[in-house]
Amino acid sequence: MGGNDAPLAGPDLARGVALGEVPDGGILLGHVGDEAVILVRPAGRDEVFALGATCTHYNGPLAEGSFDGDTIRCPWHHACFDCRTGEALAAPALTPLPSYSVERRGSSVIVGAKREHAVPARRPAKVPESVIIVGNGAAGNAAAEMLRREGYEGPITMIGAEPTRPVDRPNLSKDYLAGSAPEDWVFLRPEDFYAAQHIELALGVRVAAVDTAARRVVLSDGSSKSYGALLLATGSDPVKLTVPGADAAHVHTLRSLADSRAIIAAAQAAGAARAVVIGASFIGLEAAASLRVRGLEVHVVAPGARPLERVLGPELGDFIRGLHEEHGVVFHLGRKPAAFEDGAVVLDDGSRLPADFAVVGVGVRPRTELAERSGLKVDRGVVVDAYLETSAPGVYAAGDIARWPDAATGEPVRIEHWVVAERQGQTAARNMLGRREPFRTVPFFWSQHYDVPINYVGHAESWDRIEIAGDLAAKDALVAYRRAGRIAAVATVYRDKESLEAESLLARGDHAGLDALVS
Ligand SMILES: Cc1cc2nc3c(=O)[nH]c(=O)nc-3n(C[C@H](O)[C@H](O)[C@H](O)COP(=O)(O)OP(=O)(O)OC[C@H]3O[C@@H](n4cnc5c(N)ncnc54)[C@H](O)[C@@H]3O)c2cc1C
Ligand code: FES
Repeated sequence: MGGNDAPLAGPDLARGVALGEVPDGGILLGHVGDEAVILVRPAGRDEVFALGATCTHYNGPLAEGSFDGDTIRCPWHHACFDCRTGEALAAPALTPLPSYSVERRGSSVIVGAKREHAVPARRPAKVPESVIIVGNGAAGNAAAEMLRREGYEGPITMIGAEPTRPVDRPNLSKDYLAGSAPEDWVFLRPEDFYAAQHIELALGVRVAAVDTAARRVVLSDGSSKSYGALLLATGSDPVKLTVPGADAAHVHTLRSLADSRAIIAAAQAAGAARAVVIGASFIGLEAAASLRVRGLEVHVVAPGARPLERVLGPELGDFIRGLHEEHGVVFHLGRKPAAFEDGAVVLDDGSRLPADFAVVGVGVRPRTELAERSGLKVDRGVVVDAYLETSAPGVYAAGDIARWPDAATGEPVRIEHWVVAERQGQTAARNMLGRREPFRTVPFFWSQHYDVPINYVGHAESWDRIEIAGDLAAKDALVAYRRAGRIAAVATVYRDKESLEAESLLARGDHAGLDALVS
């Protein structure tokens, strides 16, 4: 789950530092007692703010992030915090940073006590009678939390088919599956959080239909409930194979905590030694890496010539393949499974790979059936406007199912990323409360293979050219995807600052700046 156990560094800020030591427009890392603290100073201004130095998502080092005068962004997964209050403005961090009082004495800055209630209370402009959220995943959870943060005091009900409170889904293929994170870490919030926030959880139950005219949802248990505003955040289903044996108990897909638990149980079963992963997708490869960490022999079967080539291009595809091979993964590329047997996977060339169990990671399909059944406009995703509202007033959609007009191109896009889903949940919540805030976030995702993180900003379903700055073999590179002459997306390996910079440049549409990143 990441972690930043760096020893305390920099000056003791409780004793004070000269203002001149805090870079103009920059960040100074220090500490107060045994807590790491950063001082930030907006450019050209005489103000200094003191905040916790550790990101509340996975403990990323904020002193290595970026600061634009108002907000601080984390170098690891681009969470965004308000420099004045520490508020977690944009996911994946959901919890504010501690904020400290700052005293000026002459030319010195002295950091005092933590400030209580640094984040100001807000009042919504519009108050729906009640809010129902369909889906207990990334977008649903982020929306529920944001409604409360924005001061909404009415009833919130989160209805979710998964029987557990919301989990950190990316972790299910990474540290949790690898055995390096305990199950407690997988939940986004502690057990008592939702009750304390007066968010009602209806878990293990599905919404079967929405009557948008009567503003009611009908649940799979036959009950129904009315809403003032509704969020659909039903996510995706893993694609299931149809070859013989694909529905056998030892053939797993990976979406939920139950799926991850089942794979762990299979890996820990007496005598389990070999796993076959079908699909060189992000989830397939992350599962392969985690199973290698558990000491299993892992074979990956995929139809393409390279892993992830369609998403990341041949250069990064080869790099990722090499990385997995260095860790002992055996690839069977250009191959598909023909059947799953007890103890083996049969490939389409007739060869047999011994396997105690298999993990199928061949992509996902957005769960749009509920929206379709409810008469909402659906076109390869639930169609929403820039405010994430569907074709039915008061009904919003967010996350994997939503197809929205991309701010950069105006083209409708649907994207399956954790941070996009959470930020859409947050935007939809604010818009239910009358904010009229268009969703403009530059898409971001990360993927982790052993100790190598890959960060990706922007969106390029296709490209004309790939340009690389740095050296992939040395695990220090930036890969730019250029379409119609412009850089549409940037992937980085250990170049976190440049990933943050690329995100800002893409947000501003600064194409010359983007070109300079690869020159
Ligand atoms: C193992 C794994 C690892 C991943 N790693 C990464 C990563 O590293 N980086 C990244 O960017 N993305 C990652 N993703 C993708 C990311 O998790 C998804 O994009 C994100 O979870 C989408 O959020 P969502 O809210 O749309 O859907 P989900 O998080 O899938 O939540 C949807 C919820 O809706 C519930 N539901 C569905 N239908 C109904 C219904 N009718 N009634 C009630 N409830 C319903 C489901 O049970 C589910 O709980 C990963 C995904 C998986 C599975
Ligand atoms: S550790 Fe900061 S965003 Fe993930």
